[in-house]
Amino acid sequence: MLRRLIGTAVSLILLVLGLSAFTLKEEDSSARGKDLFRDYCAMCHRLDATGMCMAPSLIGVTNRMSTKEIAAHSRKIAEEMMCARPIKKLSDRDFEEIVEYLKTLDSRRNEENSSTIR
Ligand code: HEC
Repeated sequence: MLRRLIGTAVSLILLVLGLSAFTLKEEDSSARGKDLFRDYCAMCHRLDATGMCMAPSLIGVTNRMSTKEIAAHSRKIAEEMMCARPIKKLSDRDFEEIVEYLKTLDSRRNEENSSTIR
């Protein structure tokens, strides 16, 4: 009986640890993505990705474009525009993290919309 209880407790603890490690990892990459976005993209698209001047809003862009397409598009901009040149340094992994950050903006916005529209 006692042994079974301990067994259950241990597996519960492992489950919780596993879950938190998983969510921490998710948060890590979107947090790093936010830093990358701030350093490489926000001067044109703004930190909240709503865009300004010639740079369009990137809200919802992850629904329309794959990570590969977003990376390719940004790299093309890096060739064309002087102040986007540092983007050339970004790896595919960096773009995955930037896209993670953009997705958090999209899902936050979806929640806001669903709470205001009845
Ligand atoms: C120097 C300003 C500048 C910087 C820096 C910049 N962009 Fe842009 N971006 C633009 C402009 C201008 C456009 C619109 C012209 C175009 O699509 O070719 C654009 C368009 C885009 C689009 C296409 C949006 C659509 O709806 O078609 C994506 C995706 C994008 N940028 C992602 C990024 C990402 C990710 C970064 C950072 C790694 C970045 N951009 C950095 C200026 C910039």
